[in-house]
Amino acid sequence: MKKALFLAAALAVTASVAHAESFTPITDQKVIAACGECHMTFFPQMLPQATWKKIISDLPNHFGEDASLDAETQAYVLNYHLNDAADVQSTRAAKKWMDKVDLNNPPTRIVTAPRFVRKHSESEFTRMWERKNVKSKADCVACHKNAQRGIFEDD
Ligand code: HEC
Ligand code: HEC
Repeated sequence: MKKALFLAAALAVTASVAHAESFTPITDQKVIAACGECHMTFFPQMLPQATWKKIISDLPNHFGEDASLDAETQAYVLNYHLNDAADVQSTRAAKKWMDKVDLNNPPTRIVTAPRFVRKHSESEFTRMWERKNVKSKADCVACHKNAQRGIFEDD
């Protein structure tokens, strides 16, 4: 009996992880220091290279904040994002985030990327947005508690 319950629990955990969209957590300390101070460190695989180039080339004017870095750190952080961007990675997640992306008119940010818009247009999102009183769609952690660990559950 106990064993059966344990097995059932183990299966349930496996199933929910299998359905979650997952990313390798960011462990690079330079990137965490440069990009994890004001918000979670966003996953490079959510945006194509063109978007990362644009964002990381204009850090003094970063969504109303000054996120400037010294030239060396900026180059390092840019390179990190380019190497792992949605249009060069072949992971399942990267492919999903590239679906419907027009590289001639790349998204300017994650919350306007086609996959984000598709996944956050249902009533489930609106209800959660109101219930949790979330202030910004970019506050992934407000609704996905394991976002920084790279796990976005679909339930
Ligand atoms: C000084 C604070 C600060 C730092 C440091 C910072 N950001 Fe941001 N970032 C912001 C703010 C504020 C926003 C807008 C958040 C919102 O709309 O809720 C933002 C938004 C973003 C977005 C858009 C998310 C979305 O809404 O789609 C990306 C991508 C991003 N930052 C990447 C980075 C990267 C890469 C770095 C490191 C080079 C970085 N940020 C460092 C303050 C910062
Ligand atoms: C107000 C709450 C809320 C915020 C903020 C939010 N999400 Fe979501 N997200 C949801 C809900 C609800 C779903 C489930 C929609 C569905 O399953 O169709 C979802 C689904 C997803 C999925 C799909 C998971 C899957 O396996 O299908 C991903 C990926 C995702 N969100 C990423 C993000 C990212 C990245 C951010 C921040 C830039 C973010 N979300 C911000 C509520 C939120």
